[in-house]
Amino acid sequence: MSITSLLQQTSLLPEHYRGLSKNEMESRIIAIKKRLGSKLFIPGHHYQKDEVIQFADVTGDSLQLAQLSAANKEAEHIVFCGVHFMAETADMLTTEQQHVYLPDMRAGCSMADMADIYQTEQAWPILQQLFGDTIIPLTYVNSTAAIKAFTGRHGGACVTSSNAKEMVKWAFTQKQRIFFLPDQHLGRNTAYDLGIPLENMAVWNPQTNMLETDQSPENIQVILWKGHCSVHEGFTVQHTEFVRKAHPNMHIIVHPECSREVVAAADDAGSTKYIIDTINKAPSGSAWAIGTEMNLVNRIIKQHPDKQIISLNENFCPCLTMNRIDLPHLLWSLESIEQGQPHNRIQVDTHTAEEARSSLERMLLRA
Ligand code: 13P
Ligand code: SF4
Repeated sequence: MSITSLLQQTSLLPEHYRGLSKNEMESRIIAIKKRLGSKLFIPGHHYQKDEVIQFADVTGDSLQLAQLSAANKEAEHIVFCGVHFMAETADMLTTEQQHVYLPDMRAGCSMADMADIYQTEQAWPILQQLFGDTIIPLTYVNSTAAIKAFTGRHGGACVTSSNAKEMVKWAFTQKQRIFFLPDQHLGRNTAYDLGIPLENMAVWNPQTNMLETDQSPENIQVILWKGHCSVHEGFTVQHTEFVRKAHPNMHIIVHPECSREVVAAADDAGSTKYIIDTINKAPSGSAWAIGTEMNLVNRIIKQHPDKQIISLNENFCPCLTMNRIDLPHLLWSLESIEQGQPHNRIQVDTHTAEEARSSLERMLLRA
């Protein structure tokens, strides 16, 4: 979506919501949820704040929320507590009668913004010239609907951090090479785990329109878009070294959006769901340093008083855009729906949605 059309659709929170007490906002939200019943559905991503997640009907990682949105045929209003690309995905997987809203339009994702469709359309013919018809695109769900549509158009699929390995394996049954957007780290970590040597991976730089590699094209199996998550890039090898020294008994577990060096220095890596499940299963008294978003790490710490858990980065790494969804925005969104004047509807145009759905469906079929 262009900045202009985004701004045209964006309404900002009326100032009086800021002056409401927490109790007042919570009781108004509870009352609306009761009145709207199953007409309303609130999915909440694990990185959302506690004040918001307490009102979520379901919580999950990107894959779970995509699946749950697709499965819900009942709700007329879906108030998505997550970021823009997640709400777009929900809109594309739900029916025309179901409307999706994002409580704050400023809740974007800096990683998704690193791959714009114009840059991608410029890159594709250059890559085709270099490699011929040997490439299949794979896009992390953390991407715009337009990038998902590009991927679908060229026979590719979406991936999430929960199914990236299965999807990369599938992609190699289709073509000789993959073009992985927009997160170079998830692409590199996944391909490496599947046995592809780092030297067989090249980075596509959308600023220079150049492939960064010293290899000849025939050796390249994976082309990584030069994008990253600024939250997960906040974890460094120095953090792992510090934890190893200060807490020699601690297991280090990180999200694969962290760099290859950090994943290599950790004991384990996996999606948001994998991290949650691993800590749930861990024995009482075990010790963990977790490298992922701050709201989730804080929640895990609270849920496991019997385990010693810290953030891998003691200064923590919040996702500032996720944090833009807060109680005032959630209340405003719900009240505007009830009053019949909803704000911030997320609506992907029909043509983009059709092509993007094909890339999402190829993933959901295999997830
Ligand atoms: P998952 O929910 O797929 O683990 O992704 C993490 C993330 O960064 C979401 O924006
Ligand atoms: Fe995007 Fe990273 Fe925030 Fe996830 S944590 S929404 S990838 S910026």
